[in-house]
Amino acid sequence: MSNWIVILTGAGVSAESGLGTFRDKDGMWTKYDLSEVATPEGYARNPGLVHDFYNARRRNCLDASPNPAHAALATLAAQRSVTLITQNVDDLHERAGSRDVIHMHGELTRAWCLACDQRMDWRDDLTTETPCPKCATPALRPDIVWFGEIPYHMEEIDMALRQASLFVAIGTSGEVYPAAGFVAEARAMGIPALELNMEPTGGRFDDGRYGPASRIVPDWVNEMLGT
Ligand code: APR
Repeated sequence: MSNWIVILTGAGVSAESGLGTFRDKDGMWTKYDLSEVATPEGYARNPGLVHDFYNARRRNCLDASPNPAHAALATLAAQRSVTLITQNVDDLHERAGSRDVIHMHGELTRAWCLACDQRMDWRDDLTTETPCPKCATPALRPDIVWFGEIPYHMEEIDMALRQASLFVAIGTSGEVYPAAGFVAEARAMGIPALELNMEPTGGRFDDGRYGPASRIVPDWVNEMLGT
């Protein structure tokens, strides 16, 4: 068995950095209709509304700072073999020092031109008139995976899961597939699964630690590193 830790994070790891979660009380999907702002059909119907939604989230993300949970995961990866997969579209893992983060739902800080298919770093607001820097066509969308679209890097994720000695899910409700299925895949391969979350998400794990990520993640990392 390898000594490889595969970690999946969700919105709960960034909650204490001030970025909202989706399904908690006051979560994003209690305020917005996801079919309008997080589907290709919603974008086709009203691209301006979708740009406004993601422009606000991008600004919040760039104004936010990593919290001790992000920092602890970067510390762990500097001393152990770790694959960090995130459902989050913020760049707080990277700003805390994590490298090679697998963003399976895309990134707020990237844009995708639907005319020339180029993808690029992007930190400004987007509108329906913003010209693509590569082809000058005003056809840029957020490089975010919407509901009904195929998550990114699934082959890389599958390979990582197969070589894992431990699977850890942090700050995710386990409501959205395929990420929600990783724990069952791991356990079916005999890989122990640990949940670090504000509260249990339904007994799918071998073990769990519960509380705010900014406390329980550093505690767990210190335990793993014997520090
Ligand atoms: N510390 C630890 N866990 C927390 C904290 C915190 N401070 N705050 C919230 N949580 C937990 C909640 O208890 C919940 O289980 O984080 C989880 C957040 O769940 P969701 O809001 O459903 O977010 P997530 O699981 O990341 O959603 C998955 O759904 O809408 C799509 O693409 C979107 O990537 C997102 C995906």
